Amino acid sequence: MQRAFYFLFFIPFLACQPSAQKTEEKQSVDSTQTTISRTDSSVIDLVEKKATLGKSETIAITNDPVFHKDKTFEAIPLVNVLKQIPAYASLKPEETQVVFECEDGYNPSMPLTKVINSKAYLAIRDKDAPAGEDWTTLQKGSETKKIAPFYICYTDVKGEDPSYKWPYNLVRISLTSASKETAALFPKNDDSVVKGYGLFKTHCLTCHALNGVGGTLGPELNKPKSVTEYWKSEDLKAFIANPASYRDRVKMPNLGLKKKEIEEIVGYLSYMAKQ
Ligand code: HEC
Repeated sequence: MQRAFYFLFFIPFLACQPSAQKTEEKQSVDSTQTTISRTDSSVIDLVEKKATLGKSETIAITNDPVFHKDKTFEAIPLVNVLKQIPAYASLKPEETQVVFECEDGYNPSMPLTKVINSKAYLAIRDKDAPAGEDWTTLQKGSETKKIAPFYICYTDVKGEDPSYKWPYNLVRISLTSASKETAALFPKNDDSVVKGYGLFKTHCLTCHALNGVGGTLGPELNKPKSVTEYWKSEDLKAFIANPASYRDRVKMPNLGLKKKEIEEIVGYLSYMAKQ
């Protein structure tokens, strides 16, 4: 039994290795106080911490919105897990956003106050799983969805309420501080650009403003026109990758970002163009 447990623990851990590096985002220029970098102090790697996440209990969900039936899980109160994030104690809940990071890149988020005021749980095991396994997979049409290693659910919230997120295949949770000002920049209507927002906040907001919020060393990037409206997308990405390749004596540094990160930032800027 013991050995089987460690075996199950190590497989997902190894599978997560390459993406674990994503949390170590470079902190280049960081001077404004409104910018909270995504450092390790605001993230919990659930797979790595699996053995010490806390005491679990059995919970029942009526009409689970992911499985479309009543379910029972072994689960840990989510607040107890969030409290293990070092930054938790120093953040104001009303100015904090919880970002759920799934293995497939899906990053839904919700306000921390909503999590605290609901009976939110981190499910660690599906009670309906076959003997010896923690989870069942989910068949959605022709697609097989992996629920492991973790799933977020609520015992007091209706599945139809879109303001509550029920992410599965969850591997990490991070807290993003959104002061009243930066809250205006958070992509409330599009989960797919949350990562781009985080990257923009870490790497760009120190020098650039969007809608007047942010640094002033570089030009405003969204008002009255977004840079995505008057730069060709390919040039914009190439400029961000290496500003000096476009302008001599340019004051914007080469931030050493990866191609994927730049794409996520530009995706976020395109979203903001409509805000
Ligand atoms: C250290 C400050 C600094 C940082 C950090 C920075 N920039 Fe810049 N950026 C500038 C400055 C200064 C300019 C003006 C360029 C010049 O000197 O011609 C600029 C110019 C730009 C321009 C061109 C605007 C235009 O229309 O001419 C874009 C687009 C841009 N930055 C995007 C970004 C993005 C995206 C990030 C984050 C990945 C970023 N910048 C990070 C300082 C910075």
